[in-house]
Amino acid sequence: MSSVNTPHGKARDKAPDADKAPDTMQQHWSGVYATKNEDEVSWYQARPETSLRLIANTGCGAHAALIDAGGGASTLVDHLLDAGHDDLTVLDIAPEALEKARARVGERAGHVEWIAADVLQWQPTRRYDIWHDRAVFHFLTDAQDRRRYVQVLTRALKPGGHVIIATFAPDGPEKCSGLPVMRHSPHSIAAELGDAFELLETVDEHHITPAGRVQHFNYARLRHKR
Ligand SMILES: C[S@@+](CC[C@H](N)C(=O)[O-])C[C@H]1O[C@@H](n2cnc3c(N)ncnc32)[C@H](O)[C@@H]1O
Repeated sequence: MSSVNTPHGKARDKAPDADKAPDTMQQHWSGVYATKNEDEVSWYQARPETSLRLIANTGCGAHAALIDAGGGASTLVDHLLDAGHDDLTVLDIAPEALEKARARVGERAGHVEWIAADVLQWQPTRRYDIWHDRAVFHFLTDAQDRRRYVQVLTRALKPGGHVIIATFAPDGPEKCSGLPVMRHSPHSIAAELGDAFELLETVDEHHITPAGRVQHFNYARLRHKR
């Protein structure tokens, strides 16, 4: 598959954290990735073990169309390529994050579709078997934004498709990258997605940040009911 880099989406009309400067989410995230190494950010994982396990547990196999929504510079794409996955898309609001991942995976970057866009503004042009999101949904503190996210996800997913979402747990941090978050249990993630989705698996994870702090995450694996 050829490498495609679409223009990133515009900032939302109303940033969820409107009193914050810089005043758009895209500027915030571009600034983060422009000033920090990918292995210095608190969410860094050398090997995203839980995500890899949950993706394997979908049973979809290596030819599944998978999108990592808000994938940033995550090493997930490297490990999926290593495992033979051949239909991967990484979407992120920060082009700088995608550039880091592209540079890291080297010539294999041409086998990945890279999309610079705000997931809430994005118009999917194809459908995926698996939607993966680690630590993006939890930034949606506004109910309207969460509804919009579920609409985009549903439009992007094949009927019967799989969803993996990881967020800070109810006793996890109240902020991530300086932004307020909405903490979730797997059941509140499932409730946000609605009746069209069935909750199949949950995982509790204590992530150790590069600075040595513990962050409690919850993962939910769901499936779209046909
Ligand atoms: C906490 S980081 C997690 C990155 C990656 N999922 C991981 O686990 O390493 C959140 C990521 O979401 C991206 N992001 C935040 N809001 C977004 C949005 N509205 N649309 C697309 N990406 C977004 C950020 O640029 C950042 O890369």
